Amino acid sequence: MSNSLESCFLPFTPNRAFKKKPRLVTRAEGMYYFDAAGRKILDGFAGLWCVNAGHNHPKIIEAIKKQAAECDYAGAFMLAHPVTFAAAERTCAMMPGDIDHVFFTNSGSEAVETAVKIAVAYNRARGKTSKTKIIGRERGYHGVNIGGTSVGGIPSNRAAFEHNFMMGVEHLPHTFSLEKQAFSQGQPEWGGHLAEALENIVASHGADNIAAVFVEPVACSTGILVPPKGYLQKLGEICTRHDILLVFDEVITAFGRMGKATAAEYFGVQPDIICSAKGINSGAVPMGATFMRKGIHDALMQGGAYAIEFAHGYTYSGHPLACAAALAAQDVYRDEKLFERAAGLEKKWSDAMHALKEARHVIDIRAIGLMAGIEIDPGARDFPNVPSRAMEAFEKMYWEQDVVMRFTGNVLAFAPSLTVTESQIAEMAEKLKRVLESVK
Ligand SMILES: Cc1ncc(COP(=O)(O)O)c(C=O)c1O
Repeated sequence: MSNSLESCFLPFTPNRAFKKKPRLVTRAEGMYYFDAAGRKILDGFAGLWCVNAGHNHPKIIEAIKKQAAECDYAGAFMLAHPVTFAAAERTCAMMPGDIDHVFFTNSGSEAVETAVKIAVAYNRARGKTSKTKIIGRERGYHGVNIGGTSVGGIPSNRAAFEHNFMMGVEHLPHTFSLEKQAFSQGQPEWGGHLAEALENIVASHGADNIAAVFVEPVACSTGILVPPKGYLQKLGEICTRHDILLVFDEVITAFGRMGKATAAEYFGVQPDIICSAKGINSGAVPMGATFMRKGIHDALMQGGAYAIEFAHGYTYSGHPLACAAALAAQDVYRDEKLFERAAGLEKKWSDAMHALKEARHVIDIRAIGLMAGIEIDPGARDFPNVPSRAMEAFEKMYWEQDVVMRFTGNVLAFAPSLTVTESQIAEMAEKLKRVLESVK
């Protein structure tokens, strides 16, 4: 294998800095990565919030191998392998309420684009042709395609594309206030009223023009923003009252991260559409999924007997290897009771993370399910010319403490596999405390 790193343009990575001092792993197992020298590195981030069953789970690997040997691929348009239907039935059964159909994609970004199109197509199919606007939220992350970037609300992701966005998108305010919510345990008391901003948007744009509201139940990529008490319920009520679809982007939260199959179930709120990816097959093969309520699917089943009901799809929608991995992952989640395990660890997890309150630079801690964001004071640095304080901490964790975590802006984050042990949780917290002591 060539050793040149030059040709590959890495995603969401400072490429030039990475190539000067690359972090390369060559093997993974359970909670650990290994590098070429055999160094064992604790993965505190489940890959990228996805390897919920732990790395290289033998049952998932075996299912992929078996499927590859039997039928590597079946033309996804007009043809399918039975494993695709089996994965659809199995994963739909995990969804709340009458969500009982799924459109498969290859990523979370594609699951979001698919949801945008389904929301508009559904309204068109039932004669509500003016219901086309999509409401997103500030600080939302809905992937990187143009639809998701338009609906999303992360300024640095949007900055270069102001003239390329999808039309007809409005944004709700985000729900975070450092002043009012710092160090809240669980859901913050303050902020539920912010859902009422949806009423203002409806008042100015008209419910007849709005197709859907897209939110992440927990805004993960922007630094683990936990929804204030009552917020999601209120959004749901307003959507129902105005006949607007509620779309939960659960690319991170579905399939165990919250100790339940979905955040919808965790918070007791019924959305109309759920976008998923990552944990659906424990990250082993690229896969995304857009789940929808029965009524949405049924409304789309129109036209002549040979009409294509929804002109949309990807060459790799429902890819046999991804679906085989999804079925095996669901078996592992059930047999090893991993969602229950995550739920049982949630309090200990939150306590361990909140114990970092006294660590240097820390200005807030947010923990829910099996994820946590530790916000630090950025200090005065000439970022992006020198690493931010968060990046320095991330690099020290990797090179000096043998732990992978993540950072987004000034928020350091952990989101381990659901197989994480109490001693590994303690190790992550202790090592981060030590590192923050030494960060400039
Ligand atoms: C809420 C949410 N939506 C969409 C995406 C995009 O998923 P992908 O990177 O698989 O395209 C992510 C990725 O982290 C996400 O967290």
